[in-house]
Amino acid sequence: MQGLVSAEGLSRGGSKSERLLRFFPQERPIFAQLFGASPFAMAAAAQQVEAMGFDGLDLNFGCPEKKILRVGAGAALMADLNKAEAVVGAVRRSVKLMLTMKIRLGWENQRTFLQFGRMAEDLGLDAVILHPRTVAQGFSGQADWDAVGQLKHAMDIPVVASGDVRDGESYRQLITRTGCDSVLIGRSALRRPWVFEESLACGRGEAFQPPALPEVVLRYLALLEETESEEDRFPAARLHLLQFLHDLPHAAALRAKVGACHRWSALKDLMETQFSRLEAS
Ligand SMILES: Cc1cc2nc3c(=O)[nH]c(=O)nc-3n(C[C@H](O)[C@H](O)[C@H](O)COP(=O)(O)O)c2cc1C
Repeated sequence: MQGLVSAEGLSRGGSKSERLLRFFPQERPIFAQLFGASPFAMAAAAQQVEAMGFDGLDLNFGCPEKKILRVGAGAALMADLNKAEAVVGAVRRSVKLMLTMKIRLGWENQRTFLQFGRMAEDLGLDAVILHPRTVAQGFSGQADWDAVGQLKHAMDIPVVASGDVRDGESYRQLITRTGCDSVLIGRSALRRPWVFEESLACGRGEAFQPPALPEVVLRYLALLEETESEEDRFPAARLHLLQFLHDLPHAAALRAKVGACHRWSALKDLMETQFSRLEAS
C-alpha cells in the first residue's frame, strides 16, 4: 500500500503527494491510500489514483494524527458516519478500482465499526480493514481481536484485520480466532521486515528461518541505493536501521553511532564495516 496521501494535495498537483504514490511493477497488486474530508476532493483524487495504474484504493478513516484530524479527515470521520458515507459514496461512483476503507472501533467509547462496515457493504466496497482500537486509544492497549470476529460475522465482503501481529504465530492466531480474510501488519514490519514471509509460512504450517541481520541490513541499503534519490535515502536509512538494530543485544553503542551519522556515505560505511565483519566471523 502506498500513501498515506492527502486528496486535497493530490488534486492540487502537489509533488509530495505524487512522490508518495510512486511504485514499482514488482510491488503489484498495489493500493494507494488517501485521506480527506471533502467528497469532491476525494473523488477527484481517486480518479488520479486510477489513472496512475493502481490496482486499488483504500480510504483512510483510521489515522489519529493531529494534523489529519484537524482537517476533519482520517479518524475524525469515525465520529461522523453521514460524512464518511458521503465520501465513500462519491469515491465509489467516480472510479472502478477495487475500493476498501480502513476504520477503527469508533471515536471513543461508542463502537461504531459495525455501522461503518454495513455502510461499506451497502455502497459496494470490496473489503473493510479494521484496526480494532478506538481513535482515543491511538496505538496503546491491546487490539480487540474479538471485534474483528464480530465484524467478520456481520459482513459478506472480506474483512482484513490489523493489530498486534508480531510474528508468524500471532498471525496464525488472529486468523484462527477471528475468521478474518486477510491481515495487515504494521509496527512489527519495521523491526522484523521478514514478518510477512514468516507469517505466510506459519499459515501454511511450514517452519521459517529468519534471515541473518547483516543480510537484511546490506540488502536494505542496496535497495535504497537502487530506488531512492540521494536526498531521500539518508533519512529513510537512519530511521529504519535504528529499528532493525533495536532487538540486537548489546548494540547500544552501534545505535548511538547510527544516530550520530549525518550523511548517507557515513552511514553506509559504518554498516558495511560492522556487518561485513559480522558476516565474515
Ligand atoms: C509509524 C506508523 C505509520 C502508520 N502509517 C499508516 C498509514 O499510512 N496508513 C494506515 O492505514 N495505517 C498506518 N498505520 C497503522 C497500521 O497500519 C496499523 O493499523 C496499526 O499500527 C496496528 O497494527 P500493528 O499492531 O501491526 O502495528 C501506521 C502505524 C505506525 C506505527
